[in-house]
Formats: sequence, C-alpha cells, structure tokens
Amino acid sequence: MRRLDGKTALITGSARGIGKAFAEAYVREGAKVCISDINIDAARKTANEIGDSAVAVHMDVTKQESIDAGVAETIEKLGQIDILINNAALFTAAPTVDINREDYDRVFAVNFSGSLFTLQAVARHMIERGQGGRIINMASQAGRRGEALVAVYCATKAAIISMTQSTGLDLIKHGINVNAISPGVVDGEHWDGVDAFFAKYENKAPGQKRKEVGEAVPFGRMGTADDLTGMAVFLASRDAEYVVAQTYNVDGGQWMS
Ligand SMILES: NC(=O)c1ccc[n+]([C@@H]2O[C@H](COP(=O)([O-])OP(=O)(O)OC[C@H]3O[C@@H](n4cnc5c(N)ncnc54)[C@H](O)[C@@H]3O)[C@@H](O)[C@H]2O)c1
Repeated sequence: MRRLDGKTALITGSARGIGKAFAEAYVREGAKVCISDINIDAARKTANEIGDSAVAVHMDVTKQESIDAGVAETIEKLGQIDILINNAALFTAAPTVDINREDYDRVFAVNFSGSLFTLQAVARHMIERGQGGRIINMASQAGRRGEALVAVYCATKAAIISMTQSTGLDLIKHGINVNAISPGVVDGEHWDGVDAFFAKYENKAPGQKRKEVGEAVPFGRMGTADDLTGMAVFLASRDAEYVVAQTYNVDGGQWMS
C-alpha cells in the first residue's frame, strides 16, 4: 500500500518547479493530482507528462471567481479534494525606497491572499464532505527573517507562516491539518528571476548570486525540488495526523526554529 493511495490533491502553480515535483511524488505514492496554474498550456503539458493520474485546471489565485471555478472543476474531475498545496507564488525585490504599490499588490495577491482564499474555498469543501483533509502552504526561509532588498516577498512568506498557525488552529476541529513547508534556496526556473534581481541591484554577474547562495548552505549546495517531496508526502500522509499548524524548514540547515 502506497502512502497516498485513493487520495486526490490540488496543487496551485504546479505547471513547473517545486509544485510539479510535488505532483509527481504524490502520483508515485498513489494519489491523483490536479495541476492548476495560471499558465494553462504549461499545466496541460505537465499533466500529459505525468499521465492518467493527473488533470490540468486553469486557476489564477488572485481572482476569487477563478479560485471558485478551479476548485469546482477539480472536484468535478477528481471527485473530491483530500489535499491542497498552496504553492503558487511570485518573487520580487527592490531597495526599500523603490518599492512600488503596484508590485506590492501583485505579489501579495498571489503569495498571500491567493493562498488564504484558495485555502478557504478548499476548506469549505472539506468541511462539507466531513472527512477532514490536509492543507500545505509554501512558506520560505524568507519568511523567517527579513532580507535587504526583499521586504515585500519576505513579508508575504512571514504572513504565510502566521496564517498557517491561525487557520491550522481553527480547522483542526474539522480534521483538517494545516501545515507549511519552508524551503531555503531551491534551484529551478524561479531562480533565473531571483538571480536577475540581484545581478541588477548588487551589481553581480549573471549566475553569481546563485553560486554564492548555494555555497552558503550548510549542506553544501542549493536544494532541488526533489529535496522537498519527502516532507510534502509526509504532511499529506496518515503519519502526520497529529501535526498541526507547524512550519517545517527543509533547507539544508540554513535556518533553525
Ligand atoms: N525556488 C526557491 O528557491 C524557493 C525557496 C523558498 C520558497 N519557495 C516557494 O516554493 C513555491 C514554488 O516555487 P518554485 O521555485 O517552484 O516557483 P516557480 O516560479 O518555478 O513556479 C511558480 C508557479 O506559479 C504559477 N503562478 C504564478 N502566478 C500565479 C497565479 N496568479 N495563479 C496561479 N498560478 C500562478 C507560475 O505560472 C508557476 O508555474 C513558491 O511558493 C515559492 O515562494 C521557493
């Protein structure tokens, strides 16, 4: 018996990167998955690669009607949602004096309100079904402490950790476990953008920031998406039944709390 046999999972922003690796790992453990993303072409491609256990659904987590429609379509296609991973996010960086309201609104709308209102829509479904569920929010080491140039992204991830605690304490009475994963630096397409921000603001050569952050990890290298899948499977499995409102660091030893 695999650890997620018979389970279904909705994973936001899972057309690529960490979300895609989570979807692949869940399928290996017996689950059916919904690859949901604002980029529906990429989501379809990923679902096709994964095969029969995956479906693709368009969802823009910044729009309530898109969240509601995406959750309804997932339930229609998979029958129910047992597991949600709030994974979609954007990165941004700027010196404090250059932060602008448009960028702030855009990043908070995906990373924080997108996660909260997707959690709400799925929690309503889980409560109505009466069989509990698992919700995993993607935090970051950026949410554990601030970083010069990264005020907005760090704040969204600190808010995710706080929201995980509050919603986790509220929803456990329905048998819904809400927890979070806090990665460190994880290589992938996401880091192309991060590296470009630091090349611009810290006068670094392209690729230099990526190299430096990898060397600074106690484990000795950047993480990969596959380094995170064990925790995502554990938190969705029966083994994590008594784990409530926690945020787990999976970061090669970067952070301790
Ligand atoms: N990569 C890292 O170093 C790192 C470190 C810590 C935390 N994280 C977190 O892990 C998660 C996944 O990161 P990743 O590196 O795979 O990122 P990524 O940029 O590779 O993937 C993010 C996905 O979200 C989708 N997306 C963007 N806006 C959306 C919207 N409005 N609605 C729905 N989908 C949308 C994108 O199309 C993309 O497929 C994020 O929450 C990120 O903050 C990443």
